[in-house]
Amino acid sequence: MIEIYISQEQIREKVVELGKKISEDYQGKEILMIVLLKGSFVFAADLARAVDGDVRLDFMKVSSYEGENSTGEVRILKDLDEKINGRHVLVIEDIIDTGLTLTKIMDVLKGRNPASLEICTFLNKPSRRLKEVDVKYSGFEIEDKFVIGYGLDYDQKYRQLPYIGEVVS
Ligand code: IMP
Ligand code: MG
Repeated sequence: MIEIYISQEQIREKVVELGKKISEDYQGKEILMIVLLKGSFVFAADLARAVDGDVRLDFMKVSSYEGENSTGEVRILKDLDEKINGRHVLVIEDIIDTGLTLTKIMDVLKGRNPASLEICTFLNKPSRRLKEVDVKYSGFEIEDKFVIGYGLDYDQKYRQLPYIGEVVS
């Protein structure tokens, strides 16, 4: 059974709020949103439409960590189409858990010399953090629980749910 943890209405309000902040902060600048596949695609679709400005989109897919091994490397499974040097890059993430994946991605992106580089995550589980990440925009801070829906999966299932849910038995 799935219990609703964050409702569609709460999500809608939060996305509007984030969109407003981002629109103000990037006034007059082109924003290159980098969508981390697959989980972030739903949030990114909503967020991009909530931002009033010059938004461009590109997509990246990396292999995620298995376990909590901080010595592991992420592999780029699909790289960006766009060059990012000199551009204002906003990385869109579904959820930050240990922070290991995003730390590696940020290192890769920093090395490509963007004009600015920030993170916007829909969910954040700070209690699970193994690597500090500097998150500029964060939707909801949640407890240490496994959630699904709104792009997030359990074994590739539930990504299409319009709310954030928790699987309960
Ligand atoms: P980490 O921050 O390197 O631990 O990895 C974060 C990634 O793990 C996210 O992008 C998700 O793909 C996945 N993840 C972490 N917590 C959850 C969850 O509660 N539900 C679904 N996926 C999760
Ligand atoms: Mg992910």
